[in-house]
Amino acid sequence: MENREKLVIRSRAIFTADEKYPTLLDGYIVIDDGKITKIESGDLPQTSFAPENEVLDVGEDLVLPGFVDPHTHLVHGGSRELELDMKLAGKSYMEIHEIGGIRSTVQATRSMNEEELYNKAKASLDRMLTFGTTTVEAKSGYGLDKETEIRCLEVGQRLNREHPADVVGTYMGAHALPPESTANTKGYVEFMLTEVMPEIKERKLAEFCDIFCEEGIFDIETSRYYMQKAKEMGFLLKAHADEIVPLGGAELAAEMGAVSAEHLMAISDRGIEMLAESGTVAVLLPATTFFLMADKYAPARKMLAAGVKVALATDYNPGSSPTENIQVAMSHACFGMGMQPEDILHAVTINAAHAIKRERTAGSISIGKNADILITDVKSPAELIYRFGVNHIVRVYKRGRLAAEQGRVCYE
Ligand code: NIG
Ligand code: FE
Repeated sequence: MENREKLVIRSRAIFTADEKYPTLLDGYIVIDDGKITKIESGDLPQTSFAPENEVLDVGEDLVLPGFVDPHTHLVHGGSRELELDMKLAGKSYMEIHEIGGIRSTVQATRSMNEEELYNKAKASLDRMLTFGTTTVEAKSGYGLDKETEIRCLEVGQRLNREHPADVVGTYMGAHALPPESTANTKGYVEFMLTEVMPEIKERKLAEFCDIFCEEGIFDIETSRYYMQKAKEMGFLLKAHADEIVPLGGAELAAEMGAVSAEHLMAISDRGIEMLAESGTVAVLLPATTFFLMADKYAPARKMLAAGVKVALATDYNPGSSPTENIQVAMSHACFGMGMQPEDILHAVTINAAHAIKRERTAGSISIGKNADILITDVKSPAELIYRFGVNHIVRVYKRGRLAAEQGRVCYE
């Protein structure tokens, strides 16, 4: 995307997420060719900006880096509102999983062609953009056969090329056992490792791979074996860990040098220590906790106190978090997990960028990074979190270009 002209944004409250600047900078940002080229405190100099430069003075409105959503299941078919009755009748996530759950989405996903999957995922990505998300991780994992997994990853790559948001691919064939091999975990793991992943690697369809390490899904030993092999193939590792049962998934993720461990509602104290030591990012998904009607959120404050790098994500998926709005996760991070507004902002910007290895280009307002910038309708991080349930994002700039405004996308 070419963007030669300069844009200058002036605000009394710029949350840069870059530790070289004060938490809220009273100053201005210069954007040139889609990148941030200057960040200064204070008023705009009288003379230096030529008339062809657009100068946007937003007064006291809070300016933020574009949000990074580091855990989504963006590409899938169908929806699962029919499970709501079962949930309300008291059935647990795993009970629903036994009779449909992920596998019902697998059926819906397999039945859609590339164009259909693309259109559905694009609509979701547009919605994410209007809520301020400019970089998204997208997991496969609702195909489970080779053809559909590859199709879903291809859709993610096409969106990365054609949509303003950046899309980072994760292969998650290890999301569940496919309906055709429910009794053969070992065989399915070998199938992924030998039949599917070499092609994904060769065609660079995914940088990361992820596994649902959970009682009744993939146990610790299988997960360790799978992660070790995936690492040897050159994949960066992620794990859905300790979501429901404290199985030791966080410890395993740390041991394997995973980039991130995700969910962590049932993480142990040892798991917290190990994440802090290894630098593995904890990606917390409080919108999922809320939607699962679970009684315990992930212990975010304990993790922060222990020095764990904490990120937040939507977990957008049809079974446990059907929302594209990262501001929902931010609300639950505060009101469910007791996180401070500024910690929440770090968790959806720079820490989230670390969780998907995009910290060099995204996640903060820093010189040299992409000009992914949000203009809000609030004056402070506290006001942003306090007024929950509304979209606070007024304008979304992606690489210096206006991509969404007042809840609508407006990119060409
Ligand atoms: O991240 N936990 C596993 N996978 C998804 C939910 C999958 C589904 O129910 O469709 C999640 O919550
Ligand atoms: Fe997930």
